[in-house]
Amino acid sequence: MKNNRIIIFDTTLRDGEQCPGASMNLREKLEVARQLARLKVDVIEAGFPVISDGDFEAVHTIAKEVKGPIICGLARCVNTDIDAAGKAVKPAGKKGRIHVFLATSKIHRDFKLGKAQSEIIRLAVEGVKRAKSWVHDVEFSPEDASRTEPDFLVEVCKAVVKAGATVVNIPDTVGWAVPEEYGALIKLLHDSVPEFKSGKAIISVHCHNDLGFAVANSLAAVRNGARQVECTVNGIGERAGNAALEEIVMATKTRSDFFKGMTCGVNAKEIVKSSRLVSGMCGLVVQRSKAIVGENAFAHSSGIHQDGILKKRETYEIMDPQTVGWGKTELPLTKHSGRAAVAVRLKHLGFKMTDADVAALFAKFKEIGDKKKFVYDEDLAALVEGHIAEVPETWSLIYLNVTSGTQTVPTATVTLTKAGKKEAEKILQDAGVGDGPVDAALKAIDRLTKTRGKLMDYSLRAVSQGKDALGEVTVKVNFGDGELVTGKGASTDIIEASARAYLNAVNRFLCNGREKVRLRQP
Ligand code: KIV
Ligand code: ZN
Repeated sequence: MKNNRIIIFDTTLRDGEQCPGASMNLREKLEVARQLARLKVDVIEAGFPVISDGDFEAVHTIAKEVKGPIICGLARCVNTDIDAAGKAVKPAGKKGRIHVFLATSKIHRDFKLGKAQSEIIRLAVEGVKRAKSWVHDVEFSPEDASRTEPDFLVEVCKAVVKAGATVVNIPDTVGWAVPEEYGALIKLLHDSVPEFKSGKAIISVHCHNDLGFAVANSLAAVRNGARQVECTVNGIGERAGNAALEEIVMATKTRSDFFKGMTCGVNAKEIVKSSRLVSGMCGLVVQRSKAIVGENAFAHSSGIHQDGILKKRETYEIMDPQTVGWGKTELPLTKHSGRAAVAVRLKHLGFKMTDADVAALFAKFKEIGDKKKFVYDEDLAALVEGHIAEVPETWSLIYLNVTSGTQTVPTATVTLTKAGKKEAEKILQDAGVGDGPVDAALKAIDRLTKTRGKLMDYSLRAVSQGKDALGEVTVKVNFGDGELVTGKGASTDIIEASARAYLNAVNRFLCNGREKVRLRQP
């Protein structure tokens, strides 16, 4: 095989966002897309435009604003889906792609679609042709490909390529495949479809991690002729997630001896930054021992290892942490730093902020600067995450007082203001008792806001170093409709950070209720 360039197709904003509780607002998606462009991925799958007005707007805005990568929108083989995707990616011009999918496996044909093989081929071909009327670059995915009869899969691939598909993606939708078997399937397709062999169309792979094989399967596919890998930052995605971008990239770079000089265009130095941004925006904490981007990925605790590292780094380190963006500490800012310094640092961190954003962030920066000695880049990033995660503040926290101790019933007094209320009713105060100070504060908030949130997940992380580190709390709350609403809050006081995170979730819930996403399902 001559062409050894692997196309990195990032689906963090589509499949990744399908992860429960990972949903992002427009600003958050735009920041992630901008970072993906800095990471130099080849394709950004920005969403599923027909699903909601919010998804459409996100894909459309990203197609308009983010330069460099191809911008792709997902669609079923249904005209309304394809047209929505076509309109959404239009601002990207020649860099717009439509990704159409239709299930091909027997189980999906018989039980989900109730369609015969011939009907599936007809619909797939029609879908590709319709997408071609919008853009030149059309990708087709036979959903559940790894459980599809191989002969039929070959037939589908030949038909969609003939109809104009430039990329055919072979999804292991339910994470069923194992590397040898999946590699053999890709080889069969590569050898059976002349356009794959000639390079006129390319094979893509999209692997889920239900058995923990997503990365191994993707790499086995690459060894057998696939030239596009679909993956997500931190491996987030539906159920157990997708293949992790950072692992795919670093495996091929680090083991280029084995992967026979295969290359990709990703700027590895942006990996850690991308991981942190996605984790912060989605509220999904990265496991400490996660390869490449986990806190412990390059930490050596055993004395023998530390000794070896000091003598020669390569004795226990197969990658240099700096090559993926670890360890670039800048001088921290302090309360004496001015607005211009904060603006420069925000820009340096890659955030595109308006003057109004900088003014709001500078006010928050000053509050933190008064409480802690140094404001690190991680603190600033947490402030930005909080700022762009903000929704119209129906409720705002004015005052919080908590009493707790070994001999005391934890009690919280909370004062909130409600937007839009007449002056006299605007300030509301109540108290709550609970199993602990956080529980007491959340109960008081529930009483005041008349919501009944069930806390489904709670995580606290120290944003930066030192005893005065900013604590960032992320909560996932179910307000009774089965949806998980994410809330985030940061403060040097972790009870306050918890109350702010919960209130952020309440405000998001109330805001979604008002602007209820209109499903555009046909
Ligand atoms: O997992 C899957 O099959 C998908 C398709 C839409 C490509 O996400
Ligand atoms: Zn998927």
